Amino acid sequence: MPTLSRRHLLAGTAGLLAAPAVLRAQERVVNVYSSRHYDTDRALYDGFTAVSGVRIRLIEGEADALIERIRNEGANSPADVLVTVDAARLVRAAEMNLLQPVRSPVLEARVPAHLRDPDGLWFGLSVRARILMVAADWTPPKPIERYEDIADPAFRNTILTRTSNHPYNISLAGSILHYNGADGLEAWARGVVANLARPPQGGDTPQILAVAAGQGRIAIANTYYLARLLRSTNPREREAAQRIRAIFPNQGDRGTHVNISGAGVVRTAPNREAAVGFIEYLTSVRAQEMFANGNNEYPVVADEVNVVPEVAAWGRWKQDRLNAATYAKLGPQALMIMQRAGWL
Ligand SMILES: [Fe+2]
Repeated sequence: MPTLSRRHLLAGTAGLLAAPAVLRAQERVVNVYSSRHYDTDRALYDGFTAVSGVRIRLIEGEADALIERIRNEGANSPADVLVTVDAARLVRAAEMNLLQPVRSPVLEARVPAHLRDPDGLWFGLSVRARILMVAADWTPPKPIERYEDIADPAFRNTILTRTSNHPYNISLAGSILHYNGADGLEAWARGVVANLARPPQGGDTPQILAVAAGQGRIAIANTYYLARLLRSTNPREREAAQRIRAIFPNQGDRGTHVNISGAGVVRTAPNREAAVGFIEYLTSVRAQEMFANGNNEYPVVADEVNVVPEVAAWGRWKQDRLNAATYAKLGPQALMIMQRAGWL
């Protein structure tokens, strides 16, 4: 077990040598509250049990409901680890004082600094880029190389996107607020609104399919939605996805905005040491492959890990290294600005 910390697991056992047997038995479990629902996750968790002897008890639910549940359970919560998507949700759990700081040489070495909380309250485990997806047979009137470009009046009646209040758009806008300031974000949002092909509605997949169907030219969407369509068992979805060209914005400057799915140790975790060991395990090469590929994402541990072929086909690209905590904390202000700009 190359990356699973024996120290943590041993410390967990050693500290309980004098404890009653029932407590020792409890230490062999990690209670994971997760909003991920992928078939591969069970195999992933079984992999942890195989190397550690620690069983995973999985409680699945919608992210916000899980956060509420941990809060309501209070000091008696059995939750050890919260696994969820979107940095803003992890930041919110941290701000609600539901997570505890973790110092782990393994996690600090394996997870790049911009993808984890500076105080160790949560750690990114997979990466999704929010990119521009354009019609492959379309020649844009001007080059599209940056997020900022699509606000240009040359792109009237072309953009398809979700509503402004979805976490993915809030996180992207938070990053634009950081780099371009409040006036810059507002000008960008006004430009995007002026260029919409239809009022914001639906998830990312419908935006991609609408571009393929010619209802617009530019979708703002996360990478894994396109990969999912490319890998679909439905030939019409595959064919639609093949009519899309993926543009990773801002390669010439700050890099493409990325969001994460990630995990934190719950403040009241009854099985703290094993919980840390579990998150460390999730950064091992094999676990990273399963964790990222379960949803066609990118691993946080780059280079050593294979992504699915459809994702690999997009090649290498530069990530924006703005800390996820920074853009997540700017989210509420960014949302206010988007709404002021008329982004529904
Ligand atoms: Fe999603």
